Amino acid sequence: MSKTAWTLRRLHAPNGAEIDGLAGVLIDCVEGGASVSFMQPLTRERAVTFWRGVAQGVAAGERALLVAEDAQGLCGTVQLLLAQPENQPHRADVLKMLVHRWARRQGLGAALMRAAETTARECGKTLLVLDTVTAADGARLYERLGWVRVGDIPNYAFFPEGGLCGTTYYYRNLDV
Ligand SMILES: CC(C)(COP(=O)(O)OP(=O)(O)OC[C@H]1O[C@@H](n2cnc3c(N)ncnc32)[C@H](O)[C@@H]1OP(=O)(O)O)[C@@H](O)C(=O)NCCC(=O)NCCS
Repeated sequence: MSKTAWTLRRLHAPNGAEIDGLAGVLIDCVEGGASVSFMQPLTRERAVTFWRGVAQGVAAGERALLVAEDAQGLCGTVQLLLAQPENQPHRADVLKMLVHRWARRQGLGAALMRAAETTARECGKTLLVLDTVTAADGARLYERLGWVRVGDIPNYAFFPEGGLCGTTYYYRNLDV
């Protein structure tokens, strides 16, 4: 298998091995300095607890969860928060786009986002929203894929090792 070979799939009921793999990806991203809700050090126990909560939302139909696997194991993920207020049924938030450092810069982030957009359409969603660290890897990815930049909020969150970072909001209209 070449190093760029991966498979993408949607999980409807993540099992223990999949939750463990997702925890590994999240821990790697936090150790790598990504500002994705957690401070360092992120223990495996806390990461597993986080993904168990996500799995409950998936089982309830509130979230769609996509994962990527390569020869080394689970290497990427992205989520859609489908459950929205009753006046926004056409909208979803894109959350926790994470690619393990071993799998980066091979097009997986772009593939995950395209798959998330396809899944959103299948779920009847026509408007997607996300936020990401200002001027970081994710921001370049989303702009390259045609997401529209709304604006920045300075000092929005901490990097996992400390120090504040801004966030930038983006949206994508799937109708066009
Ligand atoms: C943001 C993130 C998901 C991107 O994942 P990725 O798999 O590396 O994304 P891609 O491979 O599609 O694109 C990344 C870069 O690799 C380049 N690339 C893609 N395929 C390539 C290839 N075959 N050869 C060389 N470069 C390639 C892209 O052009 C892009 O370049 P850029 O950084 O100069 O813009 C990843 O860096 C990550 O998980 N970061 C930590 C978590 C995070 O910050 N997530 C965003 C939260 S909203």
